[in-house]
Amino acid sequence: MGKAMRRYWLPFMNSADLVEGDDPHGVELMGERFVAWRDNRGCAGLFHQSCLHRGASMRLARAEGDGLRCIYHGWKFSVDGTVIDTPNVADPNFKSRIKGRTFPVREAGGLLWAYLGPRESEPAFPHWPWMDLSDAQRLITRHVEECSFVQVIEGLVDSSHLGVLHMNGLQQSGEVDLGFAQKVNSMQRNLAPRLEVQDTDFGFYYAALRDIDDEHGPRTEARIAAFVAPCCVLNPNGDIATFVVPLDDVRTSFIHVFWSDTQELNREPLRSRHLEFIGLTPEVLDGFGLTDDTLGRTDRPNPRNNFHQDREAMRLGTSWSGLPGLIEEDVAASVSAGAVRDRRHEMLSAADIGISRLYRTLLGCADAVERGEPPLGIARGVNWSQVQGRHGLMTSEDWRDLIARRKDPETEGAS
Ligand code: FES
Ligand SMILES: [Fe+2]
Repeated sequence: MGKAMRRYWLPFMNSADLVEGDDPHGVELMGERFVAWRDNRGCAGLFHQSCLHRGASMRLARAEGDGLRCIYHGWKFSVDGTVIDTPNVADPNFKSRIKGRTFPVREAGGLLWAYLGPRESEPAFPHWPWMDLSDAQRLITRHVEECSFVQVIEGLVDSSHLGVLHMNGLQQSGEVDLGFAQKVNSMQRNLAPRLEVQDTDFGFYYAALRDIDDEHGPRTEARIAAFVAPCCVLNPNGDIATFVVPLDDVRTSFIHVFWSDTQELNREPLRSRHLEFIGLTPEVLDGFGLTDDTLGRTDRPNPRNNFHQDREAMRLGTSWSGLPGLIEEDVAASVSAGAVRDRRHEMLSAADIGISRLYRTLLGCADAVERGEPPLGIARGVNWSQVQGRHGLMTSEDWRDLIARRKDPETEGAS
């Protein structure tokens, strides 16, 4: 999977966190260490942590405005890899014959993206519609978890856990006037959705179909998520993109991009209210050990201390999971299975077709690259503006009709 994932553009940090004039910023990605840095023209760069010359860490490098200068022998590199200076080499032409260990970087949608694969295979950069919104309309969070990226994605193509693991959150969602909360509220009324998947040129669609019969009458609600290879899921509400990027085989970076076409989610008071409802406030992330600084700390909830689960609240019936919120519940469920869970011991059921399709899709990407072919979504040009999650009431027999009638700003007003 390492080779396959390097064939895609991968988001690695929030753009706003890389400030011009700052010191080199350590980045882990795909089991390797890098240094992100922004030069005095505002251009972001990603350097391999090891200096081209003899491997001293570029995190120690001097930030000199137009480039980073290694403190060992003073070789200096710009963000595009141009070697600006090699003061210990007398030949003035030497530096023009070599290239720094930098990687292609893009900034889009409030994120910094890197391409780590072979230069000759660099794919077109995906242009998602949410990238065209203002920063105020987009709210980005990042946290880290102590398990393989696959386990985290599993939770995103597993609609049937929502009404169980997150039942307290869903119950409260009816009382919250946030649009997001309202949309997920009905899920608690049917715990065994019918699940169907459909392969696509970017990954697969995953549909959860729930027959609901309540005061509003009988109906079937479809919630359709899109898995986009190699590590992105678009939620059925059509307003969140999640990127689950390996730091290494057993630690994972989880980026949420929330967006709104109509609201300034990233401005107060909406920003705080939104983060509090989802449970992604800085306080929660710090308290549960989900930041770069707190991951693995023994004084934070972790598998060794049973995630500080509140058994008393469970006995009293005030909490189903004994965990404080949605994110903590997801993290505990994914991480408690083991950093790389042993899949020889599992009993997949009809509820798990998203999981088996995820495995098949990821393995298909790995096999394609192994055969020397481009992986899914790279092979053929994907129309990114058409890829999205959907939810809605079924008006025909086939949920795919909802995808076919997906939101189109040109025709939306007329229909
Ligand atoms: S190791 Fe960096 S300049 Fe020598
Ligand atoms: Fe969950």
